[in-house]
Amino acid sequence: MARAELTTVETVHDERSWLFTVADDYGNEEEVILLPCEESVEAWVNTCPHEFQRFDRGMGAAMRDGQVICPKHGSMFDTCSGDCDNGEAAGTTLVDVGLAVDDGTVYLDDEDYVFRHEGGIDDTDDGPSSTSHLSF
Ligand code: FES
Repeated sequence: MARAELTTVETVHDERSWLFTVADDYGNEEEVILLPCEESVEAWVNTCPHEFQRFDRGMGAAMRDGQVICPKHGSMFDTCSGDCDNGEAAGTTLVDVGLAVDDGTVYLDDEDYVFRHEGGIDDTDDGPSSTSHLSF
C-alpha cells in the first residue's frame, strides 16, 4: 500500500493523541490512534483488548505517565510497547499499526490498511449524517 501522510510528531505531542480511520482489504474500517512515545509516536488500534472499549471516543485519549488509560476499567498501557501489566487487561498488548516517521512527518505505512480520514469511523465531514440521532 502507498504511504499516506497523517500529521506531524509535534501535533501528536501537542494534542496527546490523534485519531484516524483506516480500512482493510475488505473495506472494513478500523480506528487507530497515534500516541506520543518518547520523542516519536506509535500507532495502535483504538480498542482495549479486554472488552472492546475505545480509548479515544472522539475527545482524545486519557493519558498518564506515558501510558494510555482505558476508560472502562482503568487499565493502563505503555504507549511505546502497547503492553499492559495492571488491572483487568493485565497481560494483554495493543494491536500495532505500521508507521513511518520522516523528518517530523508521520505516515501510515502498513500493507494491511489504507488511510480513510482523520477522526473516528462516524466522524466524517461529508454532509449531514442520517444516523447521528438514533434513539433507543
Ligand atoms: S475494557 Fe479496557 S480494561 Fe476492561
